[in-house]
Amino acid sequence: MNRTELQKQYDEYKAMGLKLDMSRGKPSPEQVSTMERLLTAVKTNEECFSETGGDCRNYGGLDGINEMKRLLGEMLGVTSDHIIVGGNSSLNLMYDTVARSMLHPVEEGCKPWSKYDQITFLCPVPGYDRHFAICEFFGIKMVNIPLTEEGPDMDLVESLVANDETVKGMWCVPKYSNPSGFTYSAETVRRIASLRPAAKDFRIFWDNAYVLHDLTDTPDELPEIFTEAEKYGNEDMFFEFASTSKITFPGSGISCIAASPRNIKRILNALKIQTIGHDKLNQLRHSRVFKCYDDIVAQMKVHMNIIRPKFQIIYEAFENGFEGYDNVTWTIPNGGYFFCLSLPNGTAKRTVELCKEAGLVVTPAGAMFPYGIDPDDSKLRIAPTFPSCDELAIAADLLTVCARLAIAEKYGE
Ligand SMILES: Cc1ncc(COP(=O)(O)O)c(C=O)c1O
Repeated sequence: MNRTELQKQYDEYKAMGLKLDMSRGKPSPEQVSTMERLLTAVKTNEECFSETGGDCRNYGGLDGINEMKRLLGEMLGVTSDHIIVGGNSSLNLMYDTVARSMLHPVEEGCKPWSKYDQITFLCPVPGYDRHFAICEFFGIKMVNIPLTEEGPDMDLVESLVANDETVKGMWCVPKYSNPSGFTYSAETVRRIASLRPAAKDFRIFWDNAYVLHDLTDTPDELPEIFTEAEKYGNEDMFFEFASTSKITFPGSGISCIAASPRNIKRILNALKIQTIGHDKLNQLRHSRVFKCYDDIVAQMKVHMNIIRPKFQIIYEAFENGFEGYDNVTWTIPNGGYFFCLSLPNGTAKRTVELCKEAGLVVTPAGAMFPYGIDPDDSKLRIAPTFPSCDELAIAADLLTVCARLAIAEKYGE
């Protein structure tokens, strides 16, 4: 199809007055409705007690109730003594962990990060915009690290952490990474676990947001990070985060931080100043609905069956729409909430613009990069979960038309 024909097709879409949104990586109403039983999992005064007899309506239990610590521990493959149960958002725990490190020494003999003129975080890209937003908020410099199918470019990571004492952190979404869906290989995990940073207070923020979020019956395997790190005496170098946001309710789930028992002690010392404790009734409701780990696994199958066809709809539209376009590729992950569309350099922003003018909102180009800048202007994040299947079919087709038109504008027919 030449540019004139593409323009005609695009104008037809524009005339339809569409109002579509494929920008949000959140569960659909159908998905959250599958957890209705959670709303009433604790109904009476008598039911408000944890397995140790603690009254979940009252103060106490800063690190969470035992049954929830056990469950989240199993989810991450660690024992309960590695877990602190948080509130409804793991992002909040990540923000707090960075904020604490800015204000208080992360390690004995170190100074708070805010006492440096400048500190740096390594940011595998494309990545999660809210990680980058936390860094920007605290004035932490970000350095792009290319993310491949194997994980971050470890040669680059190793050399940067080894030589610079002001490199203090690194973001990692090790499984079904947002947005590419890549899972770090065992070798990458080993190299991360065995890093020898110049900074004693270097920390890896291991955001395992998609730990159980498979989309196929052949899920990716990720080695458990604390087991790996222990082999190199690096247990303290990791803060791991997860939540039930995309298992139960994104607005009212349960989050956790996992860390070495030594770090857990340090975090609790600070946390006790910060809060009286998190919502234990919600923890109790979750542990009543998920009596064991297998119950969570069963719930993830329910999600998979709803989400998988949505990814398929877009893949099919892309296969048709981009047939013959060798310079357009996309990832096909085994899990997670997103995949990544790679367009020829210099066409991503224009594609988003054309989509918007035709009534389709997609994630802004650049959002997956520090400071909102995609150096190649080539990557788009595709988020299939929220819209209905009918909406997705139209949105995906329209997106291919917009991308092809953007390519034709820049590179000719
Ligand atoms: C990589 C990643 N981490 C964290 C979150 C947010 O998690 P929570 O709802 O627990 O704050 C998301 C949500 O999209 C995400 O993609």
